[in-house]
Amino acid sequence: MKVLLAGGAGYIGTHTAVEMAAAGNEVVIADNFSNSKPEAVRRVEALVGEKIPCYYLDVADKKLLTEIFEKEKIDVVVHFAGLKAVAESTKIPVEYYRNNIDTTLSLLEVMQEQGCRRLIFSSSATVYGEPKKLPLVEDMPPGVCASPYGWTKWMNEQILRDACCANPELSVVLLRYFNPIGAHESGTIGEDPQGIPNNLFPYIAQVAVGKRPCLSIFGNDYPTKDGTCVRDYIHVVDLAKGHVKASAYAMEHEGLATFNLGTGVGYSVLEMVKAFERVNELKLSYQFAPRRPGDVSECYADAKKAKEILGWEAEKTLEDMCRDTYRWQSKNPQGYPEG
Ligand code: NAD
Ligand code: UFG
Repeated sequence: MKVLLAGGAGYIGTHTAVEMAAAGNEVVIADNFSNSKPEAVRRVEALVGEKIPCYYLDVADKKLLTEIFEKEKIDVVVHFAGLKAVAESTKIPVEYYRNNIDTTLSLLEVMQEQGCRRLIFSSSATVYGEPKKLPLVEDMPPGVCASPYGWTKWMNEQILRDACCANPELSVVLLRYFNPIGAHESGTIGEDPQGIPNNLFPYIAQVAVGKRPCLSIFGNDYPTKDGTCVRDYIHVVDLAKGHVKASAYAMEHEGLATFNLGTGVGYSVLEMVKAFERVNELKLSYQFAPRRPGDVSECYADAKKAKEILGWEAEKTLEDMCRDTYRWQSKNPQGYPEG
């Protein structure tokens, strides 16, 4: 199977490229490097021991996209290409809607023109909105999103649902990620946020290597086990393997299917801090700070559907997530080099 990873130079895309290649698939990457660096693709090539065709383009550009489809015989598209910073999306919402929706529309149109029928979409647990009941199950109705970023995921899901209704030959898998963290165990690829990290684990990792002085824990008065927010953290390599299973599923099935990719277990922010300290034998400096707008108190998946239908479940432990994050950050304190 030949797989086009749109946005494949990013955090989840690079890990997926490695797992796709390890499973015997051909990988092609398309990225505009708006939130990634070419070095990430070179590191993937070093890990898989082969050259990966990598195209530098805006995935919304139909002309350039068409050239890729004409050159490569693509069986499945995995669509990671999106802007993802929740807070930034409240400041520049139009850019978020433009980028995150145009990429999907262009992909769908070019796929239709070129006879490619299978798409895996990077969705998010954010589409559930404020959970009314936990764990979150795929057939719960989508909720009210807390940010423009979240709405782009919600709208993309709806666009893809409508496209499948209109074209019964189309096969779309919506993957709702929970909280991906960790890195490849080699420590050569990992998450490389630009500027101040928005997310918990990249922030913890930068405090651990001395790049930032202190972690702020947003809120300690939530109605949770210790007052801090609870999330379903999933190792990025497990998540990447979920894409391999979803692609194989899309080869065999038509229509739309939705899967949570999570572990089914929720950990609080404080539990994550303590686990990181224990596993890596270090101390993290942290302080409590006011709640962050838009955060839900608790969010974790019902992960049964992916297990039953895709034959996928998360295998890595919390210890793996902590150790691999620290290994990546220690080996690459400044992230990937430019160029
Ligand atoms: P990332 O920013 O590391 O990767 C996204 C990649 O897409 C980047 O390499 C970026 O340069 C590229 N890109 C963005 N717009 C593009 C465009 N118009 N044309 C070509 N390339 C473009 O993010 P990630 O963490 O790997 O996330 C991948 C996908 O998963 C995103 O759609 C994100 O919204 C979604 N997601 C991520 C998380 C998370 O916590 N990381 C959670 C839920 C969903
Ligand atoms: N947190 C801190 N300090 C920080 C960063 C985060 O205390 O410096 C806390 C947050 O308040 C939250 C928890 O750590 O309680 C997790 O926050 P993240 O930003 O790491 O993750 P989110 O759960 O907010 O968001 C993630 C993805 C989104 C996705 C969302 C869906 O980043 O893309 O999950 O649940 F939409």
